Amino acid sequence: MRFVGKTVVITGGAGGIGKTTAKAFANEGAHLVLVDMNEDALLNVVKELNLEDNRIHTVTADVTNEADVKRYVDESVEKFGKIDVFFNNAGFEGPVSFIKDTSYEQFKKVIEVNVYGVFLGLKHVLNAMMDSGGGAVINTISNAGFIGSPGMGHYIASKHAAVGLTKTAALEHAVNGIRVNGIAPAAIDTNMLAQIERNLSPDNQEEVRKQIQSSIPMHRYGQPEEVAKVVLFLASDDASFVTGATYPVDGGALAT
Ligand SMILES: NC(=O)c1ccc[n+]([C@@H]2O[C@H](COP(=O)([O-])OP(=O)(O)OC[C@H]3O[C@@H](n4cnc5c(N)ncnc54)[C@H](O)[C@@H]3O)[C@@H](O)[C@H]2O)c1
Repeated sequence: MRFVGKTVVITGGAGGIGKTTAKAFANEGAHLVLVDMNEDALLNVVKELNLEDNRIHTVTADVTNEADVKRYVDESVEKFGKIDVFFNNAGFEGPVSFIKDTSYEQFKKVIEVNVYGVFLGLKHVLNAMMDSGGGAVINTISNAGFIGSPGMGHYIASKHAAVGLTKTAALEHAVNGIRVNGIAPAAIDTNMLAQIERNLSPDNQEEVRKQIQSSIPMHRYGQPEEVAKVVLFLASDDASFVTGATYPVDGGALAT
């Protein structure tokens, strides 16, 4: 019960990693603010979690829209008094497309969600944490923040940028009681990965799945629960001397 009375804000809270991490925080006593642009999916998560009204708040918001970002930060503070933990997690994979074939619009859309969305969340939550005296931030990056991958130039560029934002925000707030870290998952069994499988081969998703799994040293996909455990560690006082780091949660992928 490391998070009793703590307020945890999660963007992409209706997605695979977001909702599983929300459950893990709730099981350790947290108050939750779940943010997502998919309102129906958010309502389903609220039903699944089945928490009392005074433990959970949802905000339908687009993380690329600054007014929406201000709104989810303001509503979190109004409802629960402060933000202790921010899981800056919403993300978008974009198409599978070589750089030479990618349109400016396609590239921009991925950068907007994965870079501008992460930046805006950091900017407004860090101000709220400065007002309340501290907190912990975890940005969802990816092994894509450290490698190249043919057909994923937009996503790779966006996640490399998120590594830089994580390190810089950590340094800017190291003496303010605010720790900023990242996680670098790979091949986690969520809708996003299923969509990448379909994009790679619409007619042979099962074969693509096997190929991706065999490329992971552990020869399997990770489960969102395995990501959640690392997020909770980084959010907790157990990680009190950890900041500016990005933790792989990838079955060994980054070690290859
Ligand atoms: N699944 C993987 O293998 C994997 C690997 C590495 C990193 N990641 C990262 O993990 C994070 C979560 O992904 P997931 O696997 O849970 O995928 P997911 O598709 O299940 O969840 C993503 C969520 O983000 C929300 N979202 C997207 N754009 C948004 C916007 N503009 N405003 C508000 N909400 C928005 C979606 O509605 C969705 O609920 C992402 O940042 C992703 O890049 C995933």
